[in-house]
Amino acid sequence: MPGLVIVGAQWGDEGKGKVTDLLAEQADVVVRFQGGNNAGHTIVRDGEEFKLHLIPSGILHRDTTCAIGNGVVIDPKIISEEIDGLKRRGVVTANLKISANAHLIMPYHVLLDTAGEQQLGSLKIGTTRRGIGPCYADKASRLGIRVQDLLDEKILRQKIMAAMEPKRQMLRPHAKDPMLDLHAMTEEYVTYGHRLEPHIADTAHLCWDALDNGRQVLFEGAQGVLLDLDHGTYPFVTSSNPVAGAACIGAGVGPKDIDDVWGIAKAYTTRVGAGPFPSELDDEVAEHLGTVGREVGTTTGRARRTGWLDLVALRYAVRLNGMTGLVMTKLDVLSGLETLRVATRYRGEEGARFDEFPYHQSVLHHASAEYEELPGWSEDIGDVRSLEDLPAAARDYLDYISEFAGVPVKLIGVGPARDQVIWADGAEA
Ligand code: IMP
Repeated sequence: MPGLVIVGAQWGDEGKGKVTDLLAEQADVVVRFQGGNNAGHTIVRDGEEFKLHLIPSGILHRDTTCAIGNGVVIDPKIISEEIDGLKRRGVVTANLKISANAHLIMPYHVLLDTAGEQQLGSLKIGTTRRGIGPCYADKASRLGIRVQDLLDEKILRQKIMAAMEPKRQMLRPHAKDPMLDLHAMTEEYVTYGHRLEPHIADTAHLCWDALDNGRQVLFEGAQGVLLDLDHGTYPFVTSSNPVAGAACIGAGVGPKDIDDVWGIAKAYTTRVGAGPFPSELDDEVAEHLGTVGREVGTTTGRARRTGWLDLVALRYAVRLNGMTGLVMTKLDVLSGLETLRVATRYRGEEGARFDEFPYHQSVLHHASAEYEELPGWSEDIGDVRSLEDLPAAARDYLDYISEFAGVPVKLIGVGPARDQVIWADGAEA
């Protein structure tokens, strides 16, 4: 499978970092194709914890090229800090390549993100306030500043001036903010340019070379399908497209370059930020999932909302992405729950039933989940490494998911460490 896309099948935080880290071992190139430092992943390697926001998890593999594609929005301060942090811990970063066409998050994007949320008041989206939305908006308005602009001070200054003027009006209370000083901003970004220059590359070309030579390219999605700007729970979504189709645009390859699409889903559901969540819980099970699953955001430190696994949404995600496989993470978190529930239908406001994920926002906002009950298990499964050794109830739970979603489960996560996984076919991919 030379071209494999990994996407989050829920609302993000499904454990994509660990899966990418595992699959990166066999990949020649790992490329991120959307999002920015709103994402965050924690990888545990030999007891050592790495928290990354922009750099693909593959960076821990010396022979894997890690690319940040044109579809990603990059805060140059954050990526410089990540590179420095990895170097300090002895990780070789020479294989990190950053697309010259990727857009840059500027200080005014961060200010606008926060100001926008404040203005929305109770209608706020609950963004990560990293400037993601305003940066993608500038990209679409053709006022964006790209990585390649860092290498030419004159162009950079002109572009910042043109992009910043309209922002001044919008950010009037911040007019005197030193973050908005043209001279200081240009100097700061030129400095980032010098630091990042060795990494700046034509990342699309790099993917083509690998694919044309039959080598493996792993396209790493961030966030999740239900946060997709077009197909998610708009407006409570991110400003990019986390669906598999976006891998083509955000990395610069064609649809025929994609051979497989794996969706990563937790064995239950979580969401951060506002928006509909039909299978959300607010009881002792919610507390169990939050505590045992350590459901706190890597990027913002916010407690995640928790609920039962939503199979209506998962089946939607499978179809939308043309998934060929599922990875079910955090199955161990369900140990100890006597009875499990999975959402198999939604009930609308006036009692209407929905078997499919509703396209209409009003329906979705008022939908509550209807459940199927499945038996739980009490055993600790953290040391299990084969399907046969799982408790029968855990196997039945996985079979039910696979059957309902119409796609095989390929890999199962049973704990945070790298080796705490079960390959469904008994062998690695
Ligand atoms: P933004 O991406 O910062 O604009 O935030 C928009 C919405 O996406 C908010 O509900 C965020 O909580 C959510 N979001 C963004 N990135 C992630 C992520 O990596 N995991 C989970 N939720 C995310």
